[in-house]
Amino acid sequence: MLKSDATPENGSKIQKAWGRLSGSSDRPPRILAVANQKGGVGKTTTAINLGTALAAVGSRVLILDLDPQANATTGLGIVPGPHDPIAYDLIIGDATLAEVVVETEVPDLHVAPTSMHLSGAEIELVRAPRREYRLADALREQAGGYDYVLVDCPPALGLLTLNALVAADGVLVPLQCEYYALEGISHLVRTVKRVKSSFNKNLDIQGIVLTMHDKRNRLCGMVAEDARKCFGSKVYETIIPRNVRVSEAPSHGKPVLLYDLRCAGAMAYARLAREVILRESEIIGMSIHQ
Ligand SMILES: Nc1ncnc2c1ncn2[C@@H]1O[C@H](COP(=O)(O)OP(=O)(O)OP(=O)(O)O)[C@@H](O)[C@H]1O
Ligand SMILES: [Mg+2]
Repeated sequence: MLKSDATPENGSKIQKAWGRLSGSSDRPPRILAVANQKGGVGKTTTAINLGTALAAVGSRVLILDLDPQANATTGLGIVPGPHDPIAYDLIIGDATLAEVVVETEVPDLHVAPTSMHLSGAEIELVRAPRREYRLADALREQAGGYDYVLVDCPPALGLLTLNALVAADGVLVPLQCEYYALEGISHLVRTVKRVKSSFNKNLDIQGIVLTMHDKRNRLCGMVAEDARKCFGSKVYETIIPRNVRVSEAPSHGKPVLLYDLRCAGAMAYARLAREVILRESEIIGMSIHQ
């Protein structure tokens, strides 16, 4: 497994800069599926950078890359070798989580990487016993060491995303501030309801994250307003701006918080992490150490 130039000092710097927000505990991990069947809305960017920001404030975080495009894997500077176990092996039961996870250059941020091989998983899964529960079973048994598991879903509502939704406590929905954004989301909301009634009664939309917002664009403002009208407080206060540093970071194999800690995109993901932790604390009554 190749990793980019790991410098744990970088991550420690962020940890110090923001102080400890969250308290690690022996609770089971909160599993959040980062999902939206629409492509290119900021799922992977949110998984990577929210995960980094949560780790930076003291949480132990696993990003599980469930998308055969492997963008979360490469965006964190990981290139699995042809024989390295990947998330697919975990789902199929050929590898344990410990065998699959890789450290990143951010302390306490691990990734269960993937590669194009995962594209075969959906076909194999169709015939597997408990096919909807494969990820849920694996994480329930093996993810105890983490505070958060963020599952980066592919842009489809197939069996891989279904596995994420069945395993999850909540769904984080990145919503790109553009025309038609809300139409796509109603389909996702219906899917979440169906999964809740058939497979996972605890599932709920945890929150909606407005992404790639351009304040000079009136349409962006209108989409943000409509989203708040439709979904009220489910929409996080933090809006992720469109920011060139955010889009550059993956080509360097780094979260934007390591690539340019002070840029508007990095600061927004840091604020989002605080909101996510606060919302979690409301949901599960966790104590917050500021
Ligand atoms: N805040 C942002 N500012 C600028 N560019 C962004 C921002 N967020 C995401 N992008 C860019 O937009 C593109 C799509 O983002 P991303 O890959 O996170 O979306 P996705 O929903 O995971 O896509 P897919 O559905 O293909 O998995 C990427 O090139 C990414 O770098
Ligand atoms: Mg993606």
